[in-house]
Amino acid sequence: MAYELLTLDRRDDGVAVVTLANGKVNPLSRELLAELRQAADELAADLPGAVVITGGDRIFAAGADISQFGGPDEAAEIGPAFHDTIGAFADLPRFVIAAISGYALGGGCELALGCDYRIASEKAVFGQPEILLGIIPGGGGTQRLARVVGPSRAKEMCLTGRQVKAEEALRIGLADEVVAPEELHDRALALAADVAKGALTAQAITKRVIDAGLSTSLDEGLALERDGFVEVFRTDDSQIGVKSFLEHGPGKAEFTGS
Ligand code: COA
Repeated sequence: MAYELLTLDRRDDGVAVVTLANGKVNPLSRELLAELRQAADELAADLPGAVVITGGDRIFAAGADISQFGGPDEAAEIGPAFHDTIGAFADLPRFVIAAISGYALGGGCELALGCDYRIASEKAVFGQPEILLGIIPGGGGTQRLARVVGPSRAKEMCLTGRQVKAEEALRIGLADEVVAPEELHDRALALAADVAKGALTAQAITKRVIDAGLSTSLDEGLALERDGFVEVFRTDDSQIGVKSFLEHGPGKAEFTGS
């Protein structure tokens, strides 16, 4: 598949790296969203072991392409395009890591929120500045940000448009790790490579159950977990992992991914 506004690199260690490459500020234009959706479909059709999504050094992504805004008719197309594309990455049955080196604003923050885990450089800046344009987040920000940092902090961020630097992002759970700028990509790739050699089907069940459980009651979530716990014992890796533990102790299993 040919891409013009991003690159998709499949590495030998099982990690796929998606790098946004839409000019200086990486606006998430209609065109870039369409390419991202294509990339998510391509990854879903031939799953890697893990995914890293990253952007430019100074700007991860500056959000929706404001020059493509118009009135409610345009909004009725742009909103679903964001939800669909970010949802396609969120739904990948693999660990999806965002590596954020600089500004992740608006849709950039929302794309990072659609990932399973966010590693930020010390120079990263997050924010949902839509309110400063007189609009609201349209790429999942009102929902995913509230689930990650809690409703009061999400409201404060979305109602003021305030930018949150890496250190604060780590404190409020918006970033999961903060590392020196020069270490960002190595750290994201190392974590992804480590996960990629794990029990991938069991990982997929884990991710599915956690995500589905977050949208339901505790009792329903526990029911999902019970089903997943039975399902996982049908995998080869569960047999490999348990046998390896009993024979050689913890952490020595060599999984097949199935
Ligand atoms: N959509 C379209 N164009 C954008 C953009 C966006 N989201 N963000 C920046 N640009 C454009 C600017 O208009 C400017 O264009 P110009 O060179 O033709 O004047 C160019 O990108 C560079 O932006 P500038 O603000 O001069 O760069 P900067 O390095 O000082 O700041 C940002 C970078 C990302 C911090 C700043 O541009 C910004 O805050 N952008 C808007 C973020 C936003 O509100 N996102 C939510 C959208 S709903």
